[in-house]
Amino acid sequence: MPDLILALDVLSRSEALRVADAAAPHLDAIKIGYPLVLAAGLDIAGPLSGFGIPLIADFKVADIPNTNRLIAEQVFAAGFSAIICQGFCGSDSVAACVEAADDAGGECYVVTEMSHPGALEFLSGKNAELLAQMAVDVGAHGIIAPATRPERVQTLRAIIGEKKILSPGVGAQGGDPAVIAPLIDGMIVGRAIYTAENPAKAARAYAEFRR
Ligand code: C5P
Repeated sequence: MPDLILALDVLSRSEALRVADAAAPHLDAIKIGYPLVLAAGLDIAGPLSGFGIPLIADFKVADIPNTNRLIAEQVFAAGFSAIICQGFCGSDSVAACVEAADDAGGECYVVTEMSHPGALEFLSGKNAELLAQMAVDVGAHGIIAPATRPERVQTLRAIIGEKKILSPGVGAQGGDPAVIAPLIDGMIVGRAIYTAENPAKAARAYAEFRR
C-alpha cells in the first residue's frame, strides 16, 4: 500500500506552511510545483524541509538535456529529494535528469500518462507504454501514472516491474483511493487535502490507505 504524498499547490508561503504543518504527521512526502514556487519562490523548500518530510519537485521538466540538467541541479541544491520530468522529449533529456538525481543522491520520476481527460489525446496508450519502457531503460527511479485509470496503472506496472509508481488523481479528479492504493507506491493528493476545512483530518483519512 502506498505512501501518502501531498500535492501542495497553494499560492502563498503562509498557506503552504499552515497546510503542511497540519497534514505533516500523516504524510510521507510533499510535492510542490509551479503554483507554489512561482508564488513563494524556490526557497519555500527551506521551511518545508523543516517538517522532516522529503520534498518532490514537480516541474515536469521537458527540455534539451543540458537545460534539464541545469534545472535538476537547481532543484537538488534547493533541498528537494526528487524531481519529476516529462518523457516525451526523449531518453537523452530524461537521462540528464536521472544523472543529476543520482549525483545528488535523489530520485527522478518520469510522467508516462497524465490523469486528466485531455491526456487521452497524446499521453496515453502505446505512447505511455513506450515512455514507461524508456524510464526503465535510462534508470529512472519510477513513473507517474494516473489514479483515475487503474487499468492503465496495471499495464504500466507490467512494464516497469519493481520501480515505483506515484499516482495523482485521487480525490478532486475522481480517483478512488481504495482501488488504486494496492497498485501503486505513492498516492498523490492535492485539493482534497489542502482545500479541506480540516487538512489534518483529510490527510489522516487518506493515510488510512498507506502501508
Ligand atoms: O488537486 P489534485 O489532487 O488533483 O492534484 C494532483 C496533483 O498532481 C497536481 O499537482 C497535478 O499537477 C499533479 N499531476 C497530475 N497528473 C499527472 C501528473 C501530475 O494531476 N499525470
